[in-house]
Amino acid sequence: MLLNKVSGADLMLLIKKLHKWLSLLVGIQLLLWLGTGLFFNLMDHQKASGNQYRQKTVPVHVDMARLIEPQLVLSKSKPVVSLKQISLLAQPYYLLTHQNTLYRHLKNNYSLVHAYSGEPTVINDVMAGKLAQSSYKGQGVIKNIIKLSPPYDDIPREKNDVWQINYNDEVNTSVYVDVGSGRIIKHSNDDKRFADIFFMLHFMDYGSEGSFNNVQIIVFAIFTLFFSFTGFIWAIELGLNGQYKLSFTRKKRKLALFDKDNQAIGSFEVTTNSNLLDGLAAHDIALSSTCGGVGTCGQCKVQLNHNTKITSADHSHFNDEQLKQGFRLACQHNVSEVGQLTLLDVTQAKKHLLELTHSEFISPFIKELRFKVVGDYRLRFRAGAHMRFFIPAARGVSIPQRLPEELKPHWHHIEHLEYQHNACSRSYSLANGDGQSADGAEELVFTIKIQNAANNSVLPGVGSSYLCNLAQGQTIEAVGPFEDFYAKSNSNKTMVLIGAGSGIAPLKSILEEQLLNTDKDPLAKRSIYFFYGARAEQDLLYCHEFFQLSKQYPQFKYFPVLSQPSGDWTGARGYTQELLNSHLEAINQLNRLEFYLCGPAKMMTDTMKLLQEKHVDASNIAFDQFTQ
Ligand code: FES
Repeated sequence: MLLNKVSGADLMLLIKKLHKWLSLLVGIQLLLWLGTGLFFNLMDHQKASGNQYRQKTVPVHVDMARLIEPQLVLSKSKPVVSLKQISLLAQPYYLLTHQNTLYRHLKNNYSLVHAYSGEPTVINDVMAGKLAQSSYKGQGVIKNIIKLSPPYDDIPREKNDVWQINYNDEVNTSVYVDVGSGRIIKHSNDDKRFADIFFMLHFMDYGSEGSFNNVQIIVFAIFTLFFSFTGFIWAIELGLNGQYKLSFTRKKRKLALFDKDNQAIGSFEVTTNSNLLDGLAAHDIALSSTCGGVGTCGQCKVQLNHNTKITSADHSHFNDEQLKQGFRLACQHNVSEVGQLTLLDVTQAKKHLLELTHSEFISPFIKELRFKVVGDYRLRFRAGAHMRFFIPAARGVSIPQRLPEELKPHWHHIEHLEYQHNACSRSYSLANGDGQSADGAEELVFTIKIQNAANNSVLPGVGSSYLCNLAQGQTIEAVGPFEDFYAKSNSNKTMVLIGAGSGIAPLKSILEEQLLNTDKDPLAKRSIYFFYGARAEQDLLYCHEFFQLSKQYPQFKYFPVLSQPSGDWTGARGYTQELLNSHLEAINQLNRLEFYLCGPAKMMTDTMKLLQEKHVDASNIAFDQFTQ
């Protein structure tokens, strides 16, 4: 299944790349068509024909009595397909065709016999010059006469040998005479040659075949077919991703709300194509969520009609009895599925307007964002809490705006993409505590990693990208803080904080809260070990600050570890869980430790496995779901 998903994404990526390159090719040719078509409309057609100095030859009077019998001519000739009497230079000739093709420009085989004398006649340079002159009315004189064999630039379709008679007039006229029949094939000049360039571009006749029925056009037609086909598939994908939802196609339905005691608390209209979590949020009812609505945190619990379908995420968060009672995850069900809903906790749904006061890269892909609450109040929360941001529908970009020059090399492999995303909500942990002060926190600090797309077929992190591109002074709505992850109070066990990447936020918050408590109450002193992993030196967040704190507070010990350090790195190498494993026994008795985890999925899984193998009691492990 995973393999199918990966190959499907790769195929989509290939289709998009193909579509882009084909669009370039097709686009260039369309521009050429437009430009050359415009030229054809505006050009002087008389000039472009090349016949500026061409004149008709005067028909000759034939003395029928002097003509020799055609039968006599035929009897002396090699096999003939047809015989025709013609005039050349005021003299009658029999034109004998020995090999005939559909058109005169294709390969033919002729011979000429004088119709009075019966003498075979060959078109030589002198006669070719006279024939050309008889068709020419300009002031120029003949410069030269050249015998040529195909192919010819001026007459690309001609397949027979020709005489080229060149004049020294102001437009460099050339007259072409058929070597076999003496026929004036064409006049050409500089004006026609210039127009021919546009014909070549317009008909894609890059091989000078003199026809639009050429291989380039066939290849171009195939490319255009693929261009349409890949565009069609891409459009379907965008449609499935909800990119083409028009406002008038969005249906709404009434949703009635009840509290736990089955008391009606109102009803409102919600668009049917949103999930319940986002639908409620649009009406300022914010359910707790730390997974951003992907169904893993299990916090957006509501009660629906017991007949409502049960998703796999519902199964993993509710027991059979709860499912029978209609408990479901709001993020996993669409508004279209339900008509009424019971809120289990109506007290948390307060939205706050936050104003960005500071935004700064603290590693190549992670920003520290500082907000203040708009209004005359401060928020109170326990360290480790998170807030849920309401990201409005907007145009997103894959590479952050205002990216510092020195960080650009880290982003060079990311393709610049612009995309439209729908409104959604995303949760992020606070990186500071409110210090449990009476009036709450003055500012709210977040460390947010800008999530890049795994490939071009999926959108980059919509929430992280939107927040990290906010400009100072801009505002955004959020709910919370929600306190699902926090330090146990009244415990004197040694704290072991384990984190990686931007999972540092709630751990930093808890650490600062604990050390601050020590300042206020020395009896609250607990040993704290912090194992923090990153990829390279530039990804180690707040490293200097943590070392400073470890000097200031002897009970705090900081253990950074890098998985891909530079050669200068003298600290631990590897992964957080490996470093933890090597120190675990030395810290304290396992039952005297409390573990707090927050980081990428692999780190969380490996650490949980390690702690289970060590038989650490689950009650001593707290973790923050991390959805990167
Ligand atoms: S499970 Fe629904 S928001 Fe996390």
